[in-house]
Amino acid sequence: MIPPAEPARRGILNWLLGLWGGGVVASVVYPVTRYLAPPEVPEAPTLSVGAGSAQTLAPNTGRVVPFGARPAIVIRTPAGELRAFAATCTHLDCTVQYRPDLQRIWCACHNGEYDLNGRNVAGPPPRPLDSYDVNVTGDEIVITRRA
Ligand code: FES
Repeated sequence: MIPPAEPARRGILNWLLGLWGGGVVASVVYPVTRYLAPPEVPEAPTLSVGAGSAQTLAPNTGRVVPFGARPAIVIRTPAGELRAFAATCTHLDCTVQYRPDLQRIWCACHNGEYDLNGRNVAGPPPRPLDSYDVNVTGDEIVITRRA
């Protein structure tokens, strides 16, 4: 008795159809996924950005400025010294601000606090803010992240 060839042929056809269907689905899903999740663009290790006028930044105030892909905060201490830090909280990435009443850098998300050296001193932040170099060129504050 000769076994029927039909089931084997049907199995191969189903396998090829499944392979083709998988290819069609992948050719649609992959570009959509790539479009929705653009690739990360690495930042240059060294970055310098102008942070506005030095004269308009009074003692005991701060200013958040764009700095590459993330913000930075430049503060003028009550003693008149300029300092700059990453403005992204080390807890959960909220943007910090300067609180003149506390004389601290403050994160509103969970009441985290950093001192004027960027050290985490209260609340949940686990580590200090990254600090940047500050120079004044003419009247322009220039902050620089070193490599
Ligand atoms: S994100 Fe800043 S304290 Fe939680």
